[in-house]
Amino acid sequence: MDNIKVRYMKENDIDSVLEIEKLSFSTPWSKKSFKMEIKGNKLSRYIVAINNEEVVGYAGVWLIVDEGHVTNIAVHPKERKKGIGNILLEALIDICKEKDMDRMTLEVRENNIIAHELYKKYGFEDCGKRPGYYADTKEDAIIMWKEIY
Ligand SMILES: CC(C)(COP(=O)(O)OP(=O)(O)OC[C@H]1O[C@@H](n2cnc3c(N)ncnc32)[C@H](O)[C@@H]1OP(=O)(O)O)[C@@H](O)C(=O)NCCC(=O)NCCS
Repeated sequence: MDNIKVRYMKENDIDSVLEIEKLSFSTPWSKKSFKMEIKGNKLSRYIVAINNEEVVGYAGVWLIVDEGHVTNIAVHPKERKKGIGNILLEALIDICKEKDMDRMTLEVRENNIIAHELYKKYGFEDCGKRPGYYADTKEDAIIMWKEIY
């Protein structure tokens, strides 16, 4: 999608982000959490994907020493399967490269085949599990890592 722009998340994006968050996750983050992440957390970088001036997706990463920890990535259900997830993940990887991170990691629900495929496509590999990690469904989390060269 050529017309998608990616930029850092601002406070006035949060309401749109929350709409997507609620449509995407069984235990959505609160407005306060997003505000904290973009205003109060020096280690975090949050980005939004914009199409026709609307927020259509977002993603975040924590930069911890030399590791980029992906916190979340979501695309509005109406805008999925158009390449926006690719664009957001590529942008997070670029941020990690720019900030000299050596590797990236994330957790994904065992049953989240789509996200798992997305991460594998960008070189993330399964490196372990956290049994029963997700409180709502008791699903296991797959831990994935990617080396940055
Ligand atoms: C995961 C998510 C962000 C992908 O966003 P998207 O914009 O639909 O993704 P894209 O269209 O860019 O596709 C990216 C890749 O994801 C994978 N993918 C996307 N849809 C898929 C599907 N239906 N089945 C299998 N793989 C799929 C493919 O690897 C795809 O690569 P391709 O473009 O070469 O086909 C989106 O499905 C989403 O918001 N899900 C809900 C939130 C979520 O689960 N986030 C992850 C938390 S760990």
